[in-house]
Amino acid sequence: MDTIITLTRPYEFSQYISILEISYILASVLFVIGLKKLSHPETARSGNLWAAAGMGLAIFCTLLFHKTLVGTGKYEGIHNIPFILVALFIGTFVGWFAAKKVKITAMPQMVSLFNGMGGACAALISMIEFPKLQAAMAALPAQNMFNGETLAILLGLMIGGVSFAGSMIAFGKLDERIGDIKSPVLRYINLCFLLLLLGFVLFIMLRQPVDGEAWMIYLLAVLALVYGVTLVMPIGGADMPVIISLLNSTTGIAAAMGGFVFNNHVMLTGGILVGSSGTILSILMCKAMNRSLLNVIIGVFGGSTTAGAQSGDQTVKEITISDAAILLSYSQKIFIVPGYGLAVAQAQHLCHELDVLLSAKGVVVKYGIHPVAGRMPGHMNVLLAESDVPYEKLMEMEDANNEMGSTDVVIVVGANDVVNPAAEDDPSSPITGMPVIQVWNAKNVIVMKRSMAKGYAAIENKLFYQSKTRMLFGDAKLTMQKLITEIKSL
Ligand code: TAP
Repeated sequence: MDTIITLTRPYEFSQYISILEISYILASVLFVIGLKKLSHPETARSGNLWAAAGMGLAIFCTLLFHKTLVGTGKYEGIHNIPFILVALFIGTFVGWFAAKKVKITAMPQMVSLFNGMGGACAALISMIEFPKLQAAMAALPAQNMFNGETLAILLGLMIGGVSFAGSMIAFGKLDERIGDIKSPVLRYINLCFLLLLLGFVLFIMLRQPVDGEAWMIYLLAVLALVYGVTLVMPIGGADMPVIISLLNSTTGIAAAMGGFVFNNHVMLTGGILVGSSGTILSILMCKAMNRSLLNVIIGVFGGSTTAGAQSGDQTVKEITISDAAILLSYSQKIFIVPGYGLAVAQAQHLCHELDVLLSAKGVVVKYGIHPVAGRMPGHMNVLLAESDVPYEKLMEMEDANNEMGSTDVVIVVGANDVVNPAAEDDPSSPITGMPVIQVWNAKNVIVMKRSMAKGYAAIENKLFYQSKTRMLFGDAKLTMQKLITEIKSL
């Protein structure tokens, strides 16, 4: 019976409970403020701090004020506080160190690792709580374990395990340590696995509880881990950012299950916020790519060499550094359209230097930001904010498109798919319908990239062959440096 009682909130303990409950409400409010602030680059940094303050408040108030009613009828505080503090310190240090050291291009990998840890925590909580509940119910004795608490524990383990294993595979793919397994058979295996997992959860719930019968929970954990691996394995490596955001939301749901188990409101609110924001983000990313979530999950995008525009025997025109420098210096308005190549080359600081240089010459310089340029949401905003580009210069895609007609030169820096006209004029293209930045409406287009290689969608780009487009081949950072030197010498 002990466990059942300890899992029940001791409402009689009014003084501590009220302080704890108030701190939880405050923490939830801080999470929501943090999320709101994360929606704009200017406030995103402080949004993180607000949400972290909420988490800090919830953790420390739990350590101080949480009381559990034990078998003797007394309330006890949390044990092992020194161990918890040491674990908190180690976790904080590792997180801080990793975040400081990580390269901006490796950010998605870090997010997937951190996300995996969240899933693992949720799964471990379930593995610890299940035997307690099982023992308590066996002592009743109960006919079965068919109740909400068991369901929350088992779903927490299942979803947390899948999130952990899936995130680890996503990390491996993003870091190019693991390749894709594109077998269509895996789709059917995955469906069978999902049904098996759900069936097994039902089986556990319908069984009569026997104290110490642990094999089921371990088997469920193993099945969830295997399912996490097979679920993510067939998904194209380049689709990982969407999958990570999806796994992020499943981790949130797993944490919310923990909130149900412990009747802990802040865990529930935090989990629901992570779950819903991750789902919304995944949907927004898919929308900006004009794809469905299902299309991403079954991995039928990219890698095609036949679909989309064909280059045929068309030729591209190149521009020299000195011609580009003259063209830019004598323009009235230019747009810089960055893409994934900017992140690879780490050319953001030089982009800003070019912007400052041209602005000093009286040229109006703006940036056209596509919502899915790069490989993670807000990728370009983060890079440009890092090099102190003023936010008011960053134009969202629709605004940038409205200004293209009056723009003298667009410099495309390492972008490809997000400026591909096939999205608008080729119904057979995999990216058809995806909103793009219509750089071809400007008077001149300069494209900085290293070769004629394709982008993420693995399709040709007709823009490179258009009469007003000229290519400036080379690594974006090196090319940008040469361009700046040339403009300075004019
Ligand atoms: P991409 O279409 O991937 O093109 C990037 C281009 O950068 C490549 O063609 C590459 O050409 C060039 N590049 C790479 N390294 C470079 C370097 N060091 N210097 C100069 N150029 C370099 O990128 P995009 O236009 O940003 O489009 C993003 C794509 O990712 C979209 O298809 C989008 O749907 C997808 N996606 C985005 C997200 C998010 S949330 N942002 C998530 C998942 C998928 P070279 O090799 O010839 O240099």
